[in-house]
Amino acid sequence: MPVQRLKDWPDWVYLLREYYEFYRYLPSGGSTKIRAHQRTVREGISRVMRANPEMEFMDAARKPVVTHFRRALDEGRNERHAPLIRAIDAVSAQLSWQYGYEKMPKGLERKFAYAEFMGPAGPVLTDEVIIGIVLFAPGCIYPAHAHDGITESYICLSGAVSENHQGVYAPGSLIFNPPGTSHRITTSDLEPSLLAYAWEGPRDKLAGRSCRSRAAGPREFAGAERTRRVARRVACAAAGIPTRYVGGSRQLRRDGPLLARTASDVPQGTRPDPGRYRSLYRQAY
Ligand SMILES: [Fe+2]
Repeated sequence: MPVQRLKDWPDWVYLLREYYEFYRYLPSGGSTKIRAHQRTVREGISRVMRANPEMEFMDAARKPVVTHFRRALDEGRNERHAPLIRAIDAVSAQLSWQYGYEKMPKGLERKFAYAEFMGPAGPVLTDEVIIGIVLFAPGCIYPAHAHDGITESYICLSGAVSENHQGVYAPGSLIFNPPGTSHRITTSDLEPSLLAYAWEGPRDKLAGRSCRSRAAGPREFAGAERTRRVARRVACAAAGIPTRYVGGSRQLRRDGPLLARTASDVPQGTRPDPGRYRSLYRQAY
């Protein structure tokens, strides 16, 4: 079976483009750190789109919380980020919902799951940046945890969440968690909450998806075998051994002859439409 690449799956290209636009036109509230994070995330997405990486779909694992997904998407359609909601909906049958815990905290298995769009575990294979969504059932308490070396943002797409009892985040709000900061999330009692998230940081940290949870023990990384395979390919590339995977890395594209050829093969025409979110956000901010 031929290798499947990002551009073989237009709905995934559209999804990444919408995500890019979302991070471009989200307000930063005057915070230079948040603005820099938003830029890092979208530059990572842009590099991945240009690299046209390999796709690897996990089994379409379902979790109990997914029974709330339809409602969460429908609520999000009324928001300014409706284009992103539509793009998520378009790939919903291919999402693999995960817990990410070796040992689940009591009661959490019915209240939460996440699905990744892009990262070392796929479906869009990359070690540039990790993006995805997390879904919470009404009345979820997500235990305190922190990320070693990884900067995280959550953006509320529908519902409402609170973090560390320090604020309420309604649709369109961004929560910013610098590396090492402990955060605990509670969600609204009556509606599900859907959050987009992005992780950026050193590649080795992203590959390890390092996370420590005070309440629940270490988080296992989904698709561990795939993560190891990516690491192997990266090592091959560094040694000049041809490999199919470049992970959007300029360094790797430069290093291997096959990688260079892959880079020159990347079709053009993936630039996002800058007018789309700008007009939407201008109305409100
Ligand atoms: Fe987190």
